Amino acid sequence: MAIFINEPSHTFNEYLLIPGYSSSECVPANVSLKTPLVKFRKDEKCPLTMNIPMVSAIMQSVSGDKLAVALAQEGGVSFIYGSQSVADEAAMVRRAKSYKAGFVTSDSNISPDDTLADILALKEKTGHSTVAVTEDGTAEGKLVGIVTSRDYRVSRMDPGVKIREFMTPFENLIWAPEGTTLKEANDIIWESKLNSLPIIDKDGKLCYFVFRKDYDTHKQNPNELLDESKRYVVGAGINTRDYAERVPALIEAGADVLCIDSSEGFTDWQKFTLAWIRERYGDSVKVGAGNVVDADGFRFLADCGADFVKVGIGGGSICITRETKGIGRGQATAVIEVCKARDDYFRETGVYVPVCSDGGIVYDHHITLALAMGADFVMLGRYFARFDESPTNKVNIGGTYYKEYWGEGSARARNWQRYDLGGDKKLSFEAGVASYVPYAGTLKDNVALTLSKVRSTMCNCGALTIQELQQKAKLTLVSATSITEGGAHDVIQKDTSAVIK
Ligand code: IMP
Repeated sequence: MAIFINEPSHTFNEYLLIPGYSSSECVPANVSLKTPLVKFRKDEKCPLTMNIPMVSAIMQSVSGDKLAVALAQEGGVSFIYGSQSVADEAAMVRRAKSYKAGFVTSDSNISPDDTLADILALKEKTGHSTVAVTEDGTAEGKLVGIVTSRDYRVSRMDPGVKIREFMTPFENLIWAPEGTTLKEANDIIWESKLNSLPIIDKDGKLCYFVFRKDYDTHKQNPNELLDESKRYVVGAGINTRDYAERVPALIEAGADVLCIDSSEGFTDWQKFTLAWIRERYGDSVKVGAGNVVDADGFRFLADCGADFVKVGIGGGSICITRETKGIGRGQATAVIEVCKARDDYFRETGVYVPVCSDGGIVYDHHITLALAMGADFVMLGRYFARFDESPTNKVNIGGTYYKEYWGEGSARARNWQRYDLGGDKKLSFEAGVASYVPYAGTLKDNVALTLSKVRSTMCNCGALTIQELQQKAKLTLVSATSITEGGAHDVIQKDTSAVIK
C-alpha cells in the first residue's frame, strides 16, 4: 500500500515569524548574513562561505557572466547555466572569473589597421568607450595604443581613417607592469589623472585594464566574495549526462563550485555523477546536488557525497511540474523536513551539509522564513531575472518595462538534461513556461533593500546570525483568513502607481 501523508504540505506564505526578545545589541548594523555554501566537518572551518544567503538559479534567463559578477560583488554566488555547449559555458565562467576585482580583461579590442567605422561599431556592441589597440586585435595581443572617445570627432573625420593615425600610441601611454597591485594601480590613476591604466606583461602584451570607476566600485562592495587570487567566486551548473566532458572544462575555466541541475535529485544519475567527480577530484571539486523534497532524498545525496543539497520541486514561479507530472511538495514543508534531516545527519556523522531552498520565493520575507526554517541559503530565479544584469531582453509593453523570464523546462530553453530520466527520449512535454517579469533596475539596489528587510526581521527575532535565527525563530502557521489580514484591508487604497512609475 502506498504511503499517505495526510497533513497538507505548506508554502512560505502560510507561515509567519513571531517576534522574540531583541536586546539593545540587536540592530541591523550588527547582523551578519555569512553562511556556509559547502559541507564541512564539525570543528573545521567551512571551505567556502558566502557573505549573503543568496545564489542565482541555474537558468538561461538568469545566470550569465554579468549577473555572476554583480552577485559576487554583493557577497553571493551565481550558478552559470549549463543548458548551453560546454565551450560556451566555460567561456562564460572564464569571463566572470576574469573580473579580478578591479582588473578587467579588455572586451573592446581592435587592430591598428582597422578604421574609425570599426571603432564605432565596436562601441555600439560593447557600450565601452576605451578600446585597446593591439597588434592582432585581441585582448591579449601586444599593446600598440589606446583609443577613447576623446581621440576622434565623428562629424569631422572620414569613417575610413585608420586607427593608427588617431590613436594615442604606446609611447605616449602611461601603463603598469603585470603584478601591480590594485592599490598601486589606483595611485597611478590618481596621480596621472587617468581614466584607465593598462597592465602589460614583460613582452608588452595586454593583461588587464584598471578603470578608475571600477576601483570605486571595489570600495563600494564591502561584502564582495573573492577567491584566493582576488577573483570573484563563480558557480556553474552541470548535468548527469555529459559531466565527463563538462566538469573538467568548467574547473579549467575557474569555476569555484558546481551544482547538478535537475528537477529530480533522488536518482542513480546523480549518484553516478557525484561518484565520478569524487573518484577523479576527491573533495577538491565542490558540487551541490538536488532537487529533493524529503529526508530520504537528503540522506541519499549526502551519502553520495554532495557538498550541498538543493530543495524544491514544483514551487518555482515558471514551473508547471506539479500540474504536468503531479509531483512536488509545498516548499516550506520540504525545507523544514530536509533541514531536520540535515541536523540529524550532522549529529550522526559530524558532517554539516548545507541546504539550499530553491524556488518559490515571492516576497523578500520568504527569504527570512526559509532561513528560519533551517535553509542555509536560497536560490532565486524570478527575483534576479528582473534586474539589469540578467541576460535577457528588456521589453516595453504598454509603457511599462519588463524582462523576459523562461523556465529551463520550457520549449524555449529546451534543457532536456534537467528532466532526463535515462533512455533516449528527450523532453517530450513542457515543465515550465515563458513569461515576463517587471523590470526592477540594478541587482545592487534590490539586493540591498531585500537584505535590509531580512536583517530587520532577524533583529525582531533576537538573532544576529543566521545560525541564531535558526535556533531562536518561532514560526506559526496562519489561517486563510489571517493571510487576508496580513495585507492592507478594509481601507480604500490610494492609487500610488503614477508616483511609483
Ligand atoms: P523562482 O525563483 O520561483 O523563479 O524559481 C527558480 C527555480 O525554478 C530554479 O532554480 C529551478 O529549480 C526551477 N525551475 C527552473 N526552470 C524550471 C522549469 O521550466 N520548470 C520547473 N522548474 C523550473
